[in-house]
Amino acid sequence: MNIAIVGANRGIGLEFCKQYSAAGNKVFAFCRKAGDQLSGLAVEQVIEGCEVTSLDSLVTCVKQLKVDSIDLLVHVSGVLKSESLDNFDVEAIKHQFEVNSIGPILSYKAFAKHLNPGSKFSVLSSRMGSIEDNGSGGMYGYRMSKAAINMAAVSLANDLKEKGVAVIILHPGYVRTDMTGGNGLIDTNESVDGLVKILAEKNMEHTGTFWHTNGEQLPW
Ligand SMILES: NC(=O)c1ccc[n+]([C@@H]2O[C@H](COP(=O)([O-])OP(=O)(O)OC[C@H]3O[C@@H](n4cnc5c(N)ncnc54)[C@H](OP(=O)(O)O)[C@@H]3O)[C@@H](O)[C@H]2O)c1
Repeated sequence: MNIAIVGANRGIGLEFCKQYSAAGNKVFAFCRKAGDQLSGLAVEQVIEGCEVTSLDSLVTCVKQLKVDSIDLLVHVSGVLKSESLDNFDVEAIKHQFEVNSIGPILSYKAFAKHLNPGSKFSVLSSRMGSIEDNGSGGMYGYRMSKAAINMAAVSLANDLKEKGVAVIILHPGYVRTDMTGGNGLIDTNESVDGLVKILAEKNMEHTGTFWHTNGEQLPW
């Protein structure tokens, strides 16, 4: 399969590149700047300069693709800041909306002509964006921006039904990465192992649904 990963430089995105390339897929790794770990991987192509808040930047990057058709596009890029009521940092909240909610839809738009009937588009959301699951409050910008991408991804799933592109929304678990300051319940390999299985199983029948890496379907 031809697989594009947006946000490939570290954490969960880097692990997607490792696992998919080890399984014999052609991996196209999009990032802002490749570090040593990504540069050392045997992927098909590393494309730098990919800023997900800018459609121009994404389009410029996607133009460098060496193939016409992408079977699976996974948008991984995301940011987490932690606002509270006492520290309600509006600029940080807006930035999370730009990266976490609007970025994935810009990614889809930049790749649209490479996604054909049977292709899949997946976005890394978070159960922190689930309204039903919110029992602890706080984290205003992250929670709002992930709830917004959940809504946008369901709109996209509806809009793409006719085109035959499935949209699958993912929660990777609580994963030890830079985003969590190394805290978490699982490592990236366990998280991505589960996500890869979900992406292999899900298709147009499941378009617009939200899955935990452990295989559970999540509530909105
Ligand atoms: N870790 C968890 O427990 C957890 C839980 C739920 C959901 N998630 C979601 O899973 C995804 C990956 O998280 P992670 O833990 O792997 O995070 P991470 O280690 O902090 O990596 C974040 C990735 O996003 C990229 N990125 C950030 N801002 C960007 C921008 N403006 N343009 C392009 N790329 C940008 C980073 O690129 P640079 O290297 O260039 O900075 C990096 O590749 C995120 O969407 C996150 O919200 C993570």
